[in-house]
Amino acid sequence: MTPPVNELVDADRGYINPLVFTDQGVYEQELEQVFGRSWLFLAHGSQVPKRGDFIQTYMGEDPVLVVRQKDGSVKAFLNQCRHRGMRICRSDQGTSRTFTCSYHGWAYDLEGNLVNVPQEERAYRNEIDKSKWGALKVPRIAEYKGFYFGTWSADVPEFEDYLGDMAYYFDAVFGRWDNGVELVEGTSKWVIDCNWKFASEQFASDMYHAEVSHASALIALHEDPAFWAGTSHQTLMPGRQFGGNGHGSGSFWADSIGFSESMYNSPALSEWVTANADEALRNVSEQQLLKVAGHNTIFPNFSWLAGPATMRVWHPRGPGQIEVWAWTYVPKDAPDEVKAAYRRMTQRTFSPAGSFETDDGENWTEIQQVLRGWKARNNTFNAQMGLGHDERDVHGLPGRTSDALSESAARGFYQRWSDLMAGLSWSDIAELDAARQAKEALHQEVQEA
Ligand code: FES
Ligand SMILES: [Fe+2]
Repeated sequence: MTPPVNELVDADRGYINPLVFTDQGVYEQELEQVFGRSWLFLAHGSQVPKRGDFIQTYMGEDPVLVVRQKDGSVKAFLNQCRHRGMRICRSDQGTSRTFTCSYHGWAYDLEGNLVNVPQEERAYRNEIDKSKWGALKVPRIAEYKGFYFGTWSADVPEFEDYLGDMAYYFDAVFGRWDNGVELVEGTSKWVIDCNWKFASEQFASDMYHAEVSHASALIALHEDPAFWAGTSHQTLMPGRQFGGNGHGSGSFWADSIGFSESMYNSPALSEWVTANADEALRNVSEQQLLKVAGHNTIFPNFSWLAGPATMRVWHPRGPGQIEVWAWTYVPKDAPDEVKAAYRRMTQRTFSPAGSFETDDGENWTEIQQVLRGWKARNNTFNAQMGLGHDERDVHGLPGRTSDALSESAARGFYQRWSDLMAGLSWSDIAELDAARQAKEALHQEVQEA
């Protein structure tokens, strides 16, 4: 018997019931309550630059088509034909004027309106009202710095409110170049047999694993192993992690702009970034450039790493599987050789064959396998690192932060998950969050007194 969903996570005490990673019933509820009610990453504008350009992606398990419209806007609709449910478009991406279902030929325009039904006169006696049988449209789409997010929810706050303080951490990476970023052509897709929350939570909150899980990758990366025993050794490096609205971001602080690239042993990139520091400093603060360089998740399943320039969506595929869709992002105006250098850096670190990526996947699949045991599933996991040591608006960083080695953002991630799973309305969640924040402020005052 699965306990009630609101008892599976106790974020205040740092307890996680492993059933959240394995239970089919929990998973079905997640699709509706979490994926159905959050803002989900759809596409970057550079994937659909011209009118009629489209890509196919997923919101949870629901396939959607994201399409650049004639007026330049981006719209999205469920990629499911209203006749018998066939995928309306079977290509991953392309350019089109209409989408014709390959089963019986119903055709939809760029907005998803049904515009043609074969044999309409003979088969339907002209009695079908095509205006009622368009594809289901994603009702709300938000564009933020060239990134498109969509939601099925009428109640979720506007995207920038949903982002909250996370905007500072997002801007630090994606908002630093005058003309933004673009994605290197092509999506790397692969399957990992693990629950989606392992990946999302780790990218929100977990710097702790790096030194252990990636020890051999780090040694292989630098010809001089002393690199990791010097000032860049993580036990010596100051750093913070941010958590808020279920999102998370964490970094060790760099001592120079271009440090992240040098950490991944790309001296040419490091030099280029340093040479272009003026441009970055026009758009974001020096503090953002130095203190935001690491791991990030926008709740629920969109993540990036600032150093290796990888961003990805963890598409859920049942409680025990994800499909990773990953891209390399590059400054749009960078010379081709710089873009190529970024691509190579991502490939050798965080890609299906990347030396760091494979370490992470190994951990997640192993945990998922252990959770096949009934004893293993009926256990409690510890998420207590840094509990009671959060601070707000310190070190010039907005929002609730904690030491880089903390699980503060993980607890925030599971708190948001749990609130949504319990079916709380977005206005109830806002009230609860305000009350939690007031309690934290009191705690901070007591500690400072
Ligand atoms: S299922 Fe699409 S036309 Fe029949
Ligand atoms: Fe990792």
